[in-house]
Amino acid sequence: MKDNPPIAWIENRRARTVEKSAIVDEIFPAGIVRQTRTFHNRIPGYQVSPLKSLPRLAALLGLGGIWVKDESFRLSLNSFKVLGGSYAIYSFVKSELGVDELDIFSSDGRALIREKLGELTFAAATDGNHGRGVAWSASRLGFKSVIYVHDKTSLARIQAIESNGARVVVIKGTYDDAVRQVKEDAQLNGWQVISDTSWPGYEDVPRWVMQGYTTMFAEVQEQLAAQGIIKPSHVLVQAGVGSLAAATIGYYAQLFGAERPRSIVVEPDKAACLFHSAEIGDGEAYSFSGELDTIMAGLACGDPNPQAWRVLWDTADVFIKSPDYVAAKGMRVYGTPLAGDPFVISGESGASTLGALMFIMLLPECAPLRESLNLGRSSEVLLINSEGNTDPTYFRKVVWSGRHPVPEAYYTLGD
Ligand SMILES: Cc1ncc(COP(=O)(O)O)c(C=O)c1O
Repeated sequence: MKDNPPIAWIENRRARTVEKSAIVDEIFPAGIVRQTRTFHNRIPGYQVSPLKSLPRLAALLGLGGIWVKDESFRLSLNSFKVLGGSYAIYSFVKSELGVDELDIFSSDGRALIREKLGELTFAAATDGNHGRGVAWSASRLGFKSVIYVHDKTSLARIQAIESNGARVVVIKGTYDDAVRQVKEDAQLNGWQVISDTSWPGYEDVPRWVMQGYTTMFAEVQEQLAAQGIIKPSHVLVQAGVGSLAAATIGYYAQLFGAERPRSIVVEPDKAACLFHSAEIGDGEAYSFSGELDTIMAGLACGDPNPQAWRVLWDTADVFIKSPDYVAAKGMRVYGTPLAGDPFVISGESGASTLGALMFIMLLPECAPLRESLNLGRSSEVLLINSEGNTDPTYFRKVVWSGRHPVPEAYYTLGD
């Protein structure tokens, strides 16, 4: 049987023609990043996550620089996701109280919430990381949480959620089924759903989630500025429902308009709902059917976030889909860097963009894509290591034991 090609791509040339995106202005209005950053700064233990430079790998691939925002360091939670869940809970509480400002972590703030809102239970569907972030945020504020996962979720991910005080409910099906179930059960039980995806009539919370992610890029911009770099020339971002990708590209579109970095959205080929929507190309978001059986658990989503899709339709330059072995290669390269480059612990979803970047730079058939994106020696490429080894057992199977090997046809690439 022939292996799937490492890279399939679709260019969204339309994005270059959109001078001002109304949806970007709506979701990422001026001043929002200052608000999210101020909020996250107040979280006890908050620290800026590292931005790592991989100059030797960049030189090997024919690039000017590779910058990795390493979210495996985020608040001891091993992924960026808590930035969205925590900001959404904070914004929800503020809107229930009808206030603009609230120090939610102070004892006065917590007392006020308890007095006015009583007991709250937050609920979320997750493929692991979002639920962990929601559980962590709820428990820090003294609230309960119920987190829905699908039955293929690894024990390690379930335990990581439970260890943050949540009750975990396992349902049959996929992440998308868990989203549907939590929605129904929350209505029956009076829980507040903190979802990282939107549906008609439920748009505030996922908007807050996306806004919360922008703190990461405010940090990146400060970190790059300290190196004398105004902005990355390119950004590769991994996508499940597309909220992270929309936050990334939307942030840069708001900041730099038409001068924003060229962007590449990376999905697993077995869960490529955004690629599929771009392929149909009528501006609507389409679901991707199938088993969604990819090792990139955080990206195993069949239903795109319609709000996020609207941002991407206006702003994302290229959609890519890749098989599991591309992400597995990314994990191994991060873990065994060239001499002088720092090492990065990166999980399946986290490493998918490095794997994709390597194939894009080294495969002869990707030359038209490189040319179209102007990827070369003067490029400063931003990657987000969106998670560390969130499933440590599987991480070792891939990195130590070589699970999901690169097909032989591509062995010599990069040698
Ligand atoms: C580690 C990791 N990276 C990337 C993503 C993709 O985010 P989104 O679903 O917003 O596209 C997720 C989502 O859960 C994730 O867990």
